[in-house]
Amino acid sequence: MAKYALLSRLFLLAIPLAIPVLGAEQPKAPPAAPAAPAAPANAMKPADRVEATPKGKLKNPYTDDNTAIVEAGHKLYMGYACNGCHGGNGGGGICPPLINDVWVYGGDDDTLFRLVALGSDVLQSKGYTRIGMENVVAPMPPMGAIVATDDDLWRILTFIRASFHGAPENKFGQPPEKVPANP
Ligand code: HEC
Repeated sequence: MAKYALLSRLFLLAIPLAIPVLGAEQPKAPPAAPAAPAAPANAMKPADRVEATPKGKLKNPYTDDNTAIVEAGHKLYMGYACNGCHGGNGGGGICPPLINDVWVYGGDDDTLFRLVALGSDVLQSKGYTRIGMENVVAPMPPMGAIVATDDDLWRILTFIRASFHGAPENKFGQPPEKVPANP
C-alpha cells in the first residue's frame, strides 16, 4: 500500500512536468495548401506499369504547378531515400543532379518513369543509351518494386519537374544533338 501511495504521488508529480513538454510538441497548423488527392483506384507497382504500357506512352497525370502534389512528391522522394544519392532537393549529392539541363537518357515523362522503375542497367539493356553526361557516371538502382505505386512515382517526378532550374527549353529534355555539354 505504501508503495502504491508513493508511486501515485510520483505520478502526480510527473503530470505538470509532462504537460509543458507535450505543449511544446504540438504541431503547428499546416499551411493552407489543399490536401493532395488520394491515389487512383487502378494504381499498380511502377514495374508493372512499365510492362503494361508501350514505350513512349507513359504520361504524368500531374502538372508541376500542382503544389499539393509537388509537396506530396517531395515527402515521397525523401521517404524512398532518393535524397541519399541525389540530395534533398534533387541538386545532386553523390549522384547526378535531377534539376539541371542535363537529362542522362532524356527528360520526357516516359523515359524518366522507366529509368527510375527499371534502373539504368535494365534501361540500357532495352536499347537506351546515355545521351547526356554528368560528372558522376554510375548506375541508377531499379526502384520499380520499391516505390509502392505508379501514382507515388508520378508524384515524385512531379516534384523533380517542379524543382528544375535549368533553361526552360530543356525542362522536358532535348533532341540528342542539342544536349548541353556537362558543365
Ligand atoms: C544508389 C544511388 C541512387 C538512388 C538511391 C537513387 N538514384 Fe536516381 N540515379 C542514380 C544514378 C547514379 C543516376 C545516373 C544513371 C546513369 O548515369 O546511368 C541516377 C539517375 C536518375 C535520374 C535521371 C537524372 C538525369 O539527369 O537524367 C532520375 C530522374 C532519378 N535518378 C530519380 C531517382 C529517384 C526518383 C529515386 C528514388 C525513388 C532515385 N533516383 C534513387 C543514383 C541513385
